[in-house]
Amino acid sequence: MLQNDLLLRTLRGEATERVPVWMMRQAGRYLPEYMVIKNKYGFFERCQTPELAAEITLQPVDIIGVDAAILFSDILVVPQAMGLEVELIESKGPNLPNPIQTKADLARIHVPNVEEQLGYVFEAIKLVKKELNNRVPLIGFAGAPWTLLCYMVEGKGSKTFDKAKAFCYTQPELAHTVLQMVTDTTIAYLKAQVKAGADVVQIFDSWGGLLSPHDFETYSLQYIRQIVAALKDEVLTIVFAKGAWHSLNAMAATGAAGLGIDWCIKPSVARELAGNQISLQGNFDPAKLLAPIPIIQQEVTTMLNAFGKGRYVANLGHGILPNVPVAHAKAFVDTVKQHVFNV
Ligand code: CP3
Repeated sequence: MLQNDLLLRTLRGEATERVPVWMMRQAGRYLPEYMVIKNKYGFFERCQTPELAAEITLQPVDIIGVDAAILFSDILVVPQAMGLEVELIESKGPNLPNPIQTKADLARIHVPNVEEQLGYVFEAIKLVKKELNNRVPLIGFAGAPWTLLCYMVEGKGSKTFDKAKAFCYTQPELAHTVLQMVTDTTIAYLKAQVKAGADVVQIFDSWGGLLSPHDFETYSLQYIRQIVAALKDEVLTIVFAKGAWHSLNAMAATGAAGLGIDWCIKPSVARELAGNQISLQGNFDPAKLLAPIPIIQQEVTTMLNAFGKGRYVANLGHGILPNVPVAHAKAFVDTVKQHVFNV
């Protein structure tokens, strides 16, 4: 039995003593303890070595006191397992030297046997579960098919991902073939994460907001829907599609237990769109963690009151920034833990 199951109970819609809190990208560069490991090993070496991945996963639980661990890994391990070369260039981000652009390129990707290709992730999950020793739940994750297609086609990060969009708009059949292959891989991948011990899974659609509401349904949501449906009987799922607030209602209808929201939407509007049957997660502006601590405390309090009691998980509206002081991250978490609702 988990000692702290606030996140699980909140996602199930049960009453809790207080609001659970964790931070997207909490295992990472704002922690000096992470930098020590980062300076010794390459990025994918850290992901592929269960002992290192487990140690990094545990850091924010031990140092910041969050209510959930999220596995240290990356969404890009999936395109890697499908056959694409992925590298991470320091201070530049992901690079895929041979992206997918034509029909002939499809021959270079396949739906892998996840146990064979991504076994190191499941080993890391087992190790984390052992080391957590039931203190808090473990969140597994994967990228949404649309966000992964963005990198698989564009070959690198981008503000607009216009190459990826052009690929969809000029070769829709090809795009849907790739999206379905990623979806099939992701379903098997997340099921194996759950089998290894993940208590919750989150789907990151970081670039969902680049699409119009109609295209979001066509190129993203229909695939997310398949993933959530496939996992529904096995695990609680959180869907985070940054910027896709227009589709909160449709995302709530997928059967997900929670929806991540960014800071560009008012909590009351998000609740109205998503309805009352789902938990909301978010939505502190990650850059606000650079403000002085008293401002953080004040604004977190305002956020908590705006979301109100129940069916709410406190988090950032996107990943924590590397230049956030550890004391500020801790102030964010502590303010949530100490909050008392008036009603
Ligand atoms: O949340 C966590 O702490 C768990 C680990 C995690 C990482 N990446 C580790 C990482 C998670 C959940 C991710 C998800 C991820 N990766 C997303 C979706 C979430 C989001 O932030 O939008 C995306 C789009 C990626 C792809 C990716 N990986 C990018 C764009 C970059 C470079 C830019 C950046 O944010 O650093 C990475 C590298 C990466 N993944 C780092 C970490 C800690 C930093 C590199 C390093 O520490 O060497």
